[in-house]
Amino acid sequence: MSTDDSFSPSKLGTKEHWDNVYESELSTFKETGDEGEIWFGEEIVEKMCDWVVEHISTSQKPRILDVGSGNGNLLFSLSAAGYDNASLVGIDYSMDAVHLAQSIASRRSIEGMKFACVDFLQDGSTLPAPTSSESREIHESGKPSNSSRGKWDLVLDKGTYDAIALSERKDGDTPPLRVYASRIGELVLPGGFFMITSCNFTEEELLSAFQRPEYGLLFHSRIEHRTLTFGGVQGSTYTTVAFQKSGDARSESKTVN
Ligand SMILES: C[S@@+](CC[C@H](N)C(=O)[O-])C[C@H]1O[C@@H](n2cnc3c(N)ncnc32)[C@H](O)[C@@H]1O
Repeated sequence: MSTDDSFSPSKLGTKEHWDNVYESELSTFKETGDEGEIWFGEEIVEKMCDWVVEHISTSQKPRILDVGSGNGNLLFSLSAAGYDNASLVGIDYSMDAVHLAQSIASRRSIEGMKFACVDFLQDGSTLPAPTSSESREIHESGKPSNSSRGKWDLVLDKGTYDAIALSERKDGDTPPLRVYASRIGELVLPGGFFMITSCNFTEEELLSAFQRPEYGLLFHSRIEHRTLTFGGVQGSTYTTVAFQKSGDARSESKTVN
């Protein structure tokens, strides 16, 4: 089955749904300090973070974008792991998700991280640059470099592609998942990474969606998750795959347990 038309639209694919979720989570956070749901649980966050630590040095001050960052939990873990806050950016199309992530950052005294309200699929939407961006581009080459501007060493997705898969498709328009994959391909720097965790797509489906010559993304590694056996069939509850953008000799394939 094609990954472009595998799912019927559902309310989980609407902005209205996520606006309601984060309106309620933001109000709970203000009342009780509860930071809201960690999608897929803390173990997945930990494993994604461990993968980043293993493959991308904190001293590089990598520019990291979390697409559909929700309450910001993945970026907060990366900050705790030593990544420079000024290089971490989260975007979400729900304004209350952005407010929630900003409020949590402020409550935890995390400074310099950016969260912005952006619809990733919107034509012409502009992504914020990390706070660190300009000084680093000047430092690298002696003058600002156009080739790396607006691109990222690492783009992350935890659950957002799954949500987009449930959004409505309009006849004649490019399917949302195709728009998403093409934008990811444009945003990753050569040698940089895209890592995605999904609860709806198998590794095979993610490879077929993202490992296309026009995006320049190649399978790099996977994170193994616990498996469930049901009716004699064994399956994993989540799939995490990392892709590396071609253009760098560092490419290698491996599995992280
Ligand atoms: C399943 S939640 C995951 C949230 C977050 N990644 C996490 O792990 O906690 C999906 C997120 O994607 C966001 N989202 C869905 N479609 C989006 C789009 N087109 N642009 C930006 N964010 C989007 C939703 O608002 C929601 O925060």
